[in-house]
Amino acid sequence: MKAILVNKPGGIEELQIGELATPEPREQEVLVRVRAAALNRADILQRKGYYPPPPGASNILGLEFAGKIVALGANCHRLSIGDRVCGLLAGGGYAQYAAIHEQMAMPIPENANDAEAAAIPEAFLTAFHALFLLGNLQTGQRVLIHAGASGVGTASIQLAREIGAEIFVTASREKKLLACKRLGAKHLINYQTDDFAAVVQRVTNGRGVDLVIDFIGATYFSKNLQCLGLDGRLVLLSLLSGQLANEIDLRLILSKRLQIVGSTLRNRSIDEKIRLTQAFWQFAGSKWQAGILRPVIDRVYDWRAVQDAHALMEANENIGKIVLNVTD
Ligand SMILES: NC(=O)c1ccc[n+]([C@@H]2O[C@H](COP(=O)([O-])OP(=O)(O)OC[C@H]3O[C@@H](n4cnc5c(N)ncnc54)[C@H](OP(=O)(O)O)[C@@H]3O)[C@@H](O)[C@H]2O)c1
Repeated sequence: MKAILVNKPGGIEELQIGELATPEPREQEVLVRVRAAALNRADILQRKGYYPPPPGASNILGLEFAGKIVALGANCHRLSIGDRVCGLLAGGGYAQYAAIHEQMAMPIPENANDAEAAAIPEAFLTAFHALFLLGNLQTGQRVLIHAGASGVGTASIQLAREIGAEIFVTASREKKLLACKRLGAKHLINYQTDDFAAVVQRVTNGRGVDLVIDFIGATYFSKNLQCLGLDGRLVLLSLLSGQLANEIDLRLILSKRLQIVGSTLRNRSIDEKIRLTQAFWQFAGSKWQAGILRPVIDRVYDWRAVQDAHALMEANENIGKIVLNVTD
């Protein structure tokens, strides 16, 4: 099959279409002819050699995909050849074929195209996991979502909106903040011009937020602690600004009884991912079918333009997801 290969760790010029063996589905896997794959920030790190796939996973980039089932493993009984599905992968999405455990394959609603379906799994499952399973967000609570216009951010806003949370977001520019507002964010903070911790304190009269979803890491850590109210939770999903934080006032953690949780989805066990996919589908499947939840798509590229797609994400230009149509 054709797949996008990384010749050697490095820049976008290392991404080229090449040939690899088509994966063989294991007993409980289905083989999917991929029609679209969405980009994730992790793909850029992997391309540069900083984020190798977990043991046993495909070396090919791509954590989410959509397409049509073309073969079933010996123990697959839930799905049929020809079904349109999308799902989460630990790697292997940037290819003509990918195999996925059948319990992790989500049916694509008839009214959704492949690009839209490919943009759902990683962003929405990460957001669902962080907000509800790790962050225990409840109706009426306040949540601060950093990088609100990112793929995961735009999914998080929609999910938090659906349970009636009060949503604060940060982003670097006004057009990103406006996109967040259209999705349901109430408090828009441009972190380039405003101190987000000060805004949160002012808007909440010093009570703070119940949950912070953070991707930025080092430079935000101290301010995130300041933003949180009593019994607040911080879910740390990425370290875009670095991994070493200093000048942390530990008293805030103690006196406000804070909980700090870190998570990566990719290296979780298949059983955890199946449970997560099923919990997400129960919450969100009918909302997606009804058009209440939809991925925000910035741009769809032909997969031959994968270098341009990576460049767009690296420049922090995208609002929502960037998708590759697998046209070969
Ligand atoms: N832990 C997990 O399981 C998991 C799963 C999926 C994704 N993630 C992480 O979640 C994050 C979002 O992923 P994505 O694919 O949705 O990303 P994305 O669409 O590429 O968006 C990332 C955004 O983060 C902001 N940003 C980047 N560097 C920053 C910095 N140094 N300081 C402040 N803001 C910065 C930029 O928005 P502004 O222009 O607004 O600054 C950028 O557009 C990534 O870091 C990814 O690795 C984690």
